[in-house]
Amino acid sequence: MSEPLLSVDELEVTFRTEDGAVRAVDRVSFGLERGEVVSIVGESGCGKSVTAMSLMGLTEGPNASVGGSVRLDGQELVGADGETLRAVRGDRMAMVFQNPMTSLNPVHRIGNQIVEQIRAHRDVGKREAMDRAVELLDAVGVPDAEERARSYPHEFSGGMRQRAMIAMALSLDPEILIADEPTTALDVTIQAQIIELLRKLNRERGLAVILITHDLGVVAEIADRVAVMYAGRIVETGSLDEVFYDPRHPYTWGLLGSVPRVGGERPRRLAQIEGQPPSLLNPPSGCRFRARCPHAFNMCESEPELIARGEPGDHLDRCWLEIAERPVLRELPSGQIGLGVPTS
Ligand SMILES: Nc1ncnc2c1ncn2[C@@H]1O[C@H](COP(=O)(O)OP(=O)(O)OP(=O)(O)O)[C@@H](O)[C@H]1O
Ligand SMILES: [Mg+2]
Repeated sequence: MSEPLLSVDELEVTFRTEDGAVRAVDRVSFGLERGEVVSIVGESGCGKSVTAMSLMGLTEGPNASVGGSVRLDGQELVGADGETLRAVRGDRMAMVFQNPMTSLNPVHRIGNQIVEQIRAHRDVGKREAMDRAVELLDAVGVPDAEERARSYPHEFSGGMRQRAMIAMALSLDPEILIADEPTTALDVTIQAQIIELLRKLNRERGLAVILITHDLGVVAEIADRVAVMYAGRIVETGSLDEVFYDPRHPYTWGLLGSVPRVGGERPRRLAQIEGQPPSLLNPPSGCRFRARCPHAFNMCESEPELIARGEPGDHLDRCWLEIAERPVLRELPSGQIGLGVPTS
């Protein structure tokens, strides 16, 4: 099989802090094909944003060390020099950050910011770049784009700012868009519009998307594949249907909150699971979920690998439970297995 567009292998990110080393991302591997949407889900602090930023080379610094490999079309990005990374960022791979103000400068007009970004990478005049900026703002659904291009970020509503960020991210026509919680701060109607926009870009331009979200409804609408992260690691990954209709890992069962029925209503939000994820400063040995897992047994003291445990294929999980027993265990009433109910 040929290599995917983006290939992440054993990615490791460690931060040095006053209390010690925090391994925020621990041997994370996944691939992204052209035109594919991969969604990363998991509780707060499990390493989603750090994973996303590391793909763009944005976590490297004096207090961070990044290991493993991120290859874009075969080109290694981990440890690549600044010039290589600048050429890739925005141009081939762009990011919509969790906090919109990370990428919008409050003192510059939106249109000019997009123009600057285009002209930093392309040999085009101001006029041409502004035409492109207006075209992009229009494409992402900013009304009166020509007029609104002259606005400052604070003059935009949350939803419009999010669109402006997406327009900015798309300004160099990247092959990959990394969207970190692009709709979290928005009301439901605007959320739906932003997701529809991402879906349209995916279908019409073949844009490959890595989408980080807490919203399982969004995942169900747009993702081709899903990676579930827990405490810095992927604990389950597979196609949308595999992970939603045949979840294998007790943590995924917890997130889904209740057994999803085929064709039935799925919970939109990640369910609350009793207890807290372990500290990434001194993570426990073995399966990291075992302290919260109602099914933990002696095997769980050693760490399970992320492998296919059912039929051969791409549905992988990190759990020692006998594969044949899992459907029965999953269907135990949630009270019995200590998992919460969906929050909304
Ligand atoms: N610069 C840093 N220095 C030290 N620790 C960090 C740093 N950045 C992130 N972390 C830690 O790494 C872990 C993963 O953080 P990350 O932001 O990736 O979580 P997340 O899954 O995106 O969470 P959320 O859903 O809340 O956005 C957390 O424990 C966080 O405290
Ligand atoms: Mg985050």
